[in-house]
Amino acid sequence: YSSQLVLGIETSCDDTGAAVVDAASRTVLGEAIHRQTMVHTLHGGINPPVAKDLHKQHIHSVVTDAMTAAGVQYSDLHAVATTLKPGLAMSLIVGRDYGRDVALQHGLPFIPIHHMEAHTLTVRMIEQVEFPFLCLLVSGGHCMLVLCEDIDRYSRLGSSLDDAPGEAFDKGARTLNLRSLPEFMAMSGGAAIEELARQGDPNCYSLNKSAPLSGYRDCNFSFSGLKENLRHLVEPLEEEHGLDGDTVLPSPTLQNLCASYQHAVFQHIIRRTHRALIYLDTTRAIPDTVQKTLVVSGGVASNKCLREWLQKLCSIEGGYRVVCPPPELCTDNGVMIAWNGAERLLADKGVLRDTQAIRDVDI
Ligand code: KG4
Ligand code: ZN
Repeated sequence: YSSQLVLGIETSCDDTGAAVVDAASRTVLGEAIHRQTMVHTLHGGINPPVAKDLHKQHIHSVVTDAMTAAGVQYSDLHAVATTLKPGLAMSLIVGRDYGRDVALQHGLPFIPIHHMEAHTLTVRMIEQVEFPFLCLLVSGGHCMLVLCEDIDRYSRLGSSLDDAPGEAFDKGARTLNLRSLPEFMAMSGGAAIEELARQGDPNCYSLNKSAPLSGYRDCNFSFSGLKENLRHLVEPLEEEHGLDGDTVLPSPTLQNLCASYQHAVFQHIIRRTHRALIYLDTTRAIPDTVQKTLVVSGGVASNKCLREWLQKLCSIEGGYRVVCPPPELCTDNGVMIAWNGAERLLADKGVLRDTQAIRDVDI
């Protein structure tokens, strides 16, 4: 047994993440993360210059913590993998500079990572998932159905024309003023809505009277209409209850709104995913020799209700199994970047060994 240690670095958005993964044993040796979520939440969204400064402040300690947790030295590593795209340019540069310097200083190969590729591959660290497989990525920043054909071959079947579903939840939670409730103050919009939806009636309000994009024979998504529909429902209800717009609606109205909104968002995801399954079936994109798998990842994939809906869809439609990485691997982190590097190192695809090539990498 000889280990293949890869250091992964992620700074594409608002999380500074690092991890050391052993490609040979598929294990995480150490990881560290610094999340900026609270800072940006207070300002009503991500501020790129602020994100860049926070990455700069924290990247050294995050990488050092991951190395210390793994109990390894730079001389033990076999490669450094770093997210180069897509994401916020100012944030990406911080990770690129740091990862590239580590590789050059210690004479290590450098592996440029595509953030979306990393999301789709993470599952293969913990489960046997063969190519080709279908991946549904649903988070605060991503919404995508992609056929993963190989480590370096992907076909996008559809993506969102406007908001991502996590964004729809976060904006919906704001419309409903969920943050004014102490128990939901520190929770993401999606998690708060899931919790409240459990005690509500999903059929109480109809937010999806005309199914978004149902006339389009593709697998794209649109969530901005649902968000507007929710606003139009909430405003008269707030007036009816004599609320000023900064307080939450009483029970059970609030719970019913959350359940109906979540229902509408997931109904749309299910419909578009269904289209993708039909498309893959008619084009025979997945050979019979391969076990058909739908991988679901991203922050929204931690929603239990969505997982159940997808399970049901997949059991009806052509014998797919649904596989979700554990929630902590679904969100942005250093492990997924290190694992993506490990996959590329093992397959020897896209590994930069030449000093000049490493110096030349750009975002
Ligand atoms: O992957 P992620 O951590 O990062 C970004 O995309 O930035 O995803 C965060 C998103 C947020 O929009 C949040 O509202 C959503 O995932 N989310 C959920 C749940 N937990 C987090 N959405 C639905 N149900 C949940 N339980
Ligand atoms: Zn991501």
